[in-house]
Amino acid sequence: MTDLSQPGSQPAAGAQPEDSADGVPPPLWLLAELTYRCPLHCAFCYNPLDYTDHSRELSTAQWIDVLREARALGAVQLGFSGGEPLVRDDLEALVEEAHKLGFYTNLITSGVGLTDQRLGDLKAAGLDHIQLSFQDSTQQLNDFLSSTRTFDLKQRVAASIKRHGFPMVLNCVLHRYNLPHVDKIIEMALAMGAEYLELANTQYYGWAHVNEAQLMPTREQLDEAEAVVARYRRTHGERCKIFFVVPDYFERRPKRCMNGWGAVFLGIAPDGAALPCHAARGLPGLTLPNVRETPLREIWYDSDAFNRFRGLHWLKEPCRSCDEKERDLGGCRCQAYLLTGDAANADPVCDKSPFHESVVKVVQRAASASTVASGPREQPILFRNDANSRTLAAAAREPNVPDVASGSGAQP
Ligand code: FES
Repeated sequence: MTDLSQPGSQPAAGAQPEDSADGVPPPLWLLAELTYRCPLHCAFCYNPLDYTDHSRELSTAQWIDVLREARALGAVQLGFSGGEPLVRDDLEALVEEAHKLGFYTNLITSGVGLTDQRLGDLKAAGLDHIQLSFQDSTQQLNDFLSSTRTFDLKQRVAASIKRHGFPMVLNCVLHRYNLPHVDKIIEMALAMGAEYLELANTQYYGWAHVNEAQLMPTREQLDEAEAVVARYRRTHGERCKIFFVVPDYFERRPKRCMNGWGAVFLGIAPDGAALPCHAARGLPGLTLPNVRETPLREIWYDSDAFNRFRGLHWLKEPCRSCDEKERDLGGCRCQAYLLTGDAANADPVCDKSPFHESVVKVVQRAASASTVASGPREQPILFRNDANSRTLAAAAREPNVPDVASGSGAQP
């Protein structure tokens, strides 16, 4: 999961950002989702549910064009993500090109495939930073949540990353299963020498939305974890910077999602679709432009997809007349769609939204649900894998196909 508050942001030298005539700023942060292929099967993956429908990947030459065009537009920070970007054997060539262009580059990885050889090659190519994901501080839960045996491998990869002298972010997505382990997760990050720890509370889009009943924590769990984080920040804040953001559902005002639609973030999906936010593929009625057919400049400044929710012009009531609209820009479009059926509605996290009750109900349901320790939950976890993706994609096309969430998941 990518966080725009991600550490490691540094200005790159070279091209100057170019504002458009009507004051639209250039993209600053390019996320290159090189592939949807991934050896892990995380229950909270932000890739689209129907990712198997979009598997035709851009070639090396097409990705290099994307990097050049984005840099010319003014993008300075570049994340290589996926899926697992290491499954592409041209990753080193892309990093080298990005480095030459003056990007600050970050590899966002599960660690699977990150051998000493590749670490050395990526260092030589100019890679600046590595973000390594863990699912938990325990082998049992790490391996369960990713549906793989990768905990030991990740430990070895973390040590290799430090041996090669990379600054490292450990990323751990938080939810009701691992929130009670936050102290151990922090201890693990400290022991590994991570400069940053991103404790990313689950955002409920994509696969996490399907698994919301399983993953949603209680307010008590969040409060306890926040207190633990505050304690470690006081004692170890110099050694490791810890990021912890309370999930939207527990707030009364929405966040300024992506720092504003079409404001700083430009994502490119494996098939070349351009994304104003990494979950935008799930918004019906939004035609995503593709870099195979349209120059990036035109996509950023002129496409309907990037202009649809840019700025304030599109706001409906109660946002339009709200005196806080400049702060949150109406909140998250994907959340508005998932919870109200209309992406142009106010984010229902806001207690001024007429749909706020839907968020309150989700939180109340989590509070009253059985705890993890007390036995199986009502619905099994649905892991991100090709079979489940194909079934979900078919169900979206044909409503009569049986619901995959009703039987092919797993219990911890
Ligand atoms: Fe898409 Fe918030 S995740 S706008």
